[in-house]
Amino acid sequence: VPIVVMASGAGSLLAALIGRAEGQAPYRIVGIVVDRQCPAADIAHRHDIPLVDCRVGDHPDRAAWDTALTEQVAAFEPDWVVTAGFMKILGPDFLSRFGGRIVNSHPALLPSFPGAHGVADALAHGVKVTGTTVHLVDAGVDTGPILAQEPVAVRPDDTEDTLHERIKSVERELLADVVTNLVTKGVVIDGRKADIP
Ligand code: GRF
Repeated sequence: VPIVVMASGAGSLLAALIGRAEGQAPYRIVGIVVDRQCPAADIAHRHDIPLVDCRVGDHPDRAAWDTALTEQVAAFEPDWVVTAGFMKILGPDFLSRFGGRIVNSHPALLPSFPGAHGVADALAHGVKVTGTTVHLVDAGVDTGPILAQEPVAVRPDDTEDTLHERIKSVERELLADVVTNLVTKGVVIDGRKADIP
């Protein structure tokens, strides 16, 4: 089953998804989208996976960027799109084209600590347990239906980095497991089969 992964950070979640795909996973990554030059882009090159840098091209405004990105990803004809550290909000064109088939991983137990600083916010708040959430992407920021969660204990000497690395070690496995299940079984939320065309 063809999937596209969108990343823009260290790419450790992307690397985990590639690792599974090169093993026995029922999905293959047909394209990778990044929004900057980043290790995730280098990983794409190393694994010979077609790479799209979504900044390429002159987009006069966000709507044009949204449309261009939608066309670029649609060209791969993915059944599913996975955002793993992609730090841009997906626009209405993209959501109408792929809505219900976009999976995101967030390094906190949503609905707590949504947004781009979930790990730092959890640490600053002084929670004893945080974790990771895999959810379907909707028009909001980290607000779509939750598919899976795993707790991660916060340690007294944790920094944002040590905590985030520990969360990512859990996140990598959970995201790969959820994507594997989605591509084989689809997704059922509250007993309803999600509208996956
Ligand atoms: C992950 O923690 C993900 O949940 C968050 O950004 C991080 C990406 O890590 N959105 P990496 O770039 O895959 O290492």
